[in-house]
Amino acid sequence: MTQLLPMPASDRADRGWWRRAVIYENHLPSFRDGNGDGVGDLDGLIASLDYLSGTLGVDAVWVGPFFRSPLLDQGFDISDHTGVEPVFGTLATVDRLLEAAHARGLKVIVDYVPNHTSDQHPWFLQSRSARESPKRDWYVWADAPNNWTSEAGGSVWEWDERTEQYYLHSHLKEQPDLNWRQPELRAAMLDVLRFWLERGVDGFRIDVAHMLMKDPLLRDNPPDTGGESNPYDLQHADFASQLHVNDRMHPDLHGVLREIRKVLDEYPGDRVSIGEVEAMDWARWAEFFGPELDQIHLPFAFKLIETPWEAGALAEVTAGLDAALPDGAWPILALGNHDRPRLATRLGRAQARVAAVLLLTLRGTPTLLYGDELGLLDQEVPRERQRDCFGLMEGGVSRDPTRTPMPWNAGPNGGFAPADAPELWLPVSSELATINVETQLADARSSLRLYRRLLALRAGSPALRAGDYARPPRADGGCLSYVREAGADRKLVALNLTGEERAVALGERGTVAVSTDPERDGEAVRDQLRLRPDEAVVVDLG
Ligand code: NOJ
Repeated sequence: MTQLLPMPASDRADRGWWRRAVIYENHLPSFRDGNGDGVGDLDGLIASLDYLSGTLGVDAVWVGPFFRSPLLDQGFDISDHTGVEPVFGTLATVDRLLEAAHARGLKVIVDYVPNHTSDQHPWFLQSRSARESPKRDWYVWADAPNNWTSEAGGSVWEWDERTEQYYLHSHLKEQPDLNWRQPELRAAMLDVLRFWLERGVDGFRIDVAHMLMKDPLLRDNPPDTGGESNPYDLQHADFASQLHVNDRMHPDLHGVLREIRKVLDEYPGDRVSIGEVEAMDWARWAEFFGPELDQIHLPFAFKLIETPWEAGALAEVTAGLDAALPDGAWPILALGNHDRPRLATRLGRAQARVAAVLLLTLRGTPTLLYGDELGLLDQEVPRERQRDCFGLMEGGVSRDPTRTPMPWNAGPNGGFAPADAPELWLPVSSELATINVETQLADARSSLRLYRRLLALRAGSPALRAGDYARPPRADGGCLSYVREAGADRKLVALNLTGEERAVALGERGTVAVSTDPERDGEAVRDQLRLRPDEAVVVDLG
């Protein structure tokens, strides 16, 4: 294995396919069922690669966990890091996926879940077998619980009868937290990265990267008396009762992230790390890049998802991000995610189209949740069909409505699974007749066709893929507008976030490259750009 010498941050700034890419989150169990058992799988994903790289035109797919797992948390409860859960496929299927994706120029990003395992993982079975077990301290054990509350509700501590101690689980009690202060565990988890890097994955999405290290003294969290908890990120009200200052974000986690990064840098091909970090103030978010840009390549900027859909608030949040972004770093952006209510449910259909223009034209790497390109809505899931164990806890909020199957056509099971498949993983959308790939491909005004036009425009526009802001986002009369440029390519983006007509000063001539109203494409504009209600446009100024 070649050990690459560290590269100065300034040289690193221009490297990386991931700076120019659009990433698609396909959420494996929900995307396409390849073997007729009613659950999305790797064969289904392989069968969808032409859609992703050709029809849609994205550059990378973030697969979602497919490792051995009891599936109590959609695979984020891993019982074997280097084995594949049979419902999703085999190691050979992963290899076929990598080959088929790479043959189409698509990159493949897999999940890395370093904070916890399943309680069925052999490491945990050994750890809980006896206090003297050599793996005892691979997990976090305590004689007495502190007051920390779990994301899934209740205490993070579970009593173990046999060995008479409590173990820590920041999520479900079936997801014990790993102890990254233990050197052997650390080495074993870094080897997990190597295993997948050797197989050819292009990068990792690191689950809850902000949680890796806790206060070593396990001190109590202070109560949240001022209602400071993040209302957008709540799976359970218990979690909001305190300020989570001691159970996450310990500064030592940055040392771990540096080690993870070093492993990625052992391999050629610009392997990327994408960090799930909860929404936090921009200064703390920026720390995840590392002072030498030697930690996470792309820590998710979740604040954008949580910003009220209002021009002034969006201008403020993008200004905050850009001011905090370290020199040479590049942001990753998302407006949808498998843990949050769907974009079109949050904003409504018309503004979800405006959001598509924002996501694909802001400066950064856009990440698109499967189905958002269709305007898929949250789908109510009856309790007896729910899969999300967080939601099944008393007082829990289910994430299943976001995760219903990808609708490929208006036929049985929405084309997600064969007509004779047993009961599906989750029910299909009740709006299947209009929200499906086949119908929308045939309709020039559809959401899918808008995404296609935007992705094609972006692919051919250095300004949109790589350019700086010649004029950063600014709010005016309920509209947001900005100009991006790279060399001779200049694009003005103007978004009308209101349901009324508006005008944006242009001061020069241009041509509408893409509008949410496709009949405007190609229209010459000058001086004043009139925007229809709920319209967003990209104007070519070059
Ligand atoms: C974040 C993942 O996105 C979420 O789906 C999961 O439940 C938790 N981490 C625990 O792994």
